[in-house]
Amino acid sequence: MPLLSIFASKNINMPNLFSPLKIKNTEFRNRIVVSPMCEYSSDDGFATNWHLVHLGSRAVGGAALVLTEAIAVSPEGRISYGDTGIYKDAHIDKLKEINEFIQSQGALSGTQLAHAGRKASHELPWNGNAQIPSNQPNGWKAVAPSAIPFDAKEEAPLALDKAGIEKVKADFKAAAARTLAAGFDVIEIHAAHGYLIHEFYSPLSNQRTDEYGGSFDNRIRLLLEVVESVQQVWPADKPLFVRISSTDWTEGGWTIDDSVAPAAILKDKGVDLVDCSSAGNVLAKIPLKPGYRWSLPGPLAKPASLPAR
Ligand SMILES: Cc1cc2nc3c(=O)[nH]c(=O)nc-3n(C[C@H](O)[C@H](O)[C@H](O)COP(=O)(O)O)c2cc1C
Repeated sequence: MPLLSIFASKNINMPNLFSPLKIKNTEFRNRIVVSPMCEYSSDDGFATNWHLVHLGSRAVGGAALVLTEAIAVSPEGRISYGDTGIYKDAHIDKLKEINEFIQSQGALSGTQLAHAGRKASHELPWNGNAQIPSNQPNGWKAVAPSAIPFDAKEEAPLALDKAGIEKVKADFKAAAARTLAAGFDVIEIHAAHGYLIHEFYSPLSNQRTDEYGGSFDNRIRLLLEVVESVQQVWPADKPLFVRISSTDWTEGGWTIDDSVAPAAILKDKGVDLVDCSSAGNVLAKIPLKPGYRWSLPGPLAKPASLPAR
C-alpha cells in the first residue's frame, strides 16, 4: 500500500507534510524524505546510472530530500561487494553528477555514511544474502566491537583494536570530506540496523572491557566520536542526521529508553535529527503490524499527537 494511503487509512494526521521546513540554513520544500535503500548495484563502490535514475526519479517525484543508500566509508565497511562507497576520491565525480540532477529538480540530496561491521562481506540479496567467508572471492574479514558473529553459522569478525577504531573514525571523516566535495546537502550517519556503530552501543554485540565497552557511556562512545569526526569537516551550518535502531527487540539488548539519553547528547552536539528505526543487530522476533514502532509499552509508547489504535 502506498505510504500516504496507509496514513489515510490509519487516520494519521500529518498537516505539515507538504509545508516547507528549515533545518539550519537548508530549506526543505516539504517533509517527504526518501529513505536510504541499498541497491547492490555498484562495482568497487562506484555509483552508476542506476543510482542516477533511482535517486533522480524520486527528486522528480517531489520529495524534499533524497537519501542515497548506506554508502560505505571503507571497502571493508560494505555489506556486499555491490555496495556504493565513498572511500576513494574517484567516487566523487559520479555522485556529484547525481547530486546536481537531484538539486536541479528542487530536491536536496543526502547520503548515509555507513560501516557494516560484522554484517559486511555478504552476497547480493538476489544471490542469497549469505556471508562470504574471508578466504573466498568477493569476501573479506569483517570487523566488530567483539569477535561475535551475527549468526553462529558465520565466520566470526575481528574485534577492533584501538588502531582499528581510530581508522574507522578517520574513514568517516575522510568520507564526510568527500561528501562535501560531491555537493551533498545532508549527511545521515548510519548507526542502526546492526551495523558497526549499533554493534558498539548494543550490549548484545559489545563485550569489550576497554573504554568502548561495558558501561552505557562506553558503549555510546564510538557513536559520539564518529559524529565528532564528521563534524570536523562537515560545515556546522549543514544538516547532520543520525539513524539509530531505537530498540533491539530483544531481552538484554538496547531499548527505547536507552535511546533517549544519546538523542539528547546528539542534539547538544549539533545533530539536527535522530532518525528512529529499529532492530537488525540480532535475529529478533518483532511483532510486525502497522505502526509497530509506536506500539511499545512504556512512557515513550505513543506520542500524544497520534490517535489510539
Ligand atoms: C531495498 C531496501 C533497502 C534498504 N536499505 C537501507 C539502507 O541502506 N539504509 C537504511 O538505513 N535503511 C535501509 N532500508 C530501510 C529503509 O530505509 C526503511 O527504513 C524501511 O523500509 C522501513 O520504512 P520506514 O522507515 O518508513 O518505516 C532499506 C529498505 C529496503 C526495502
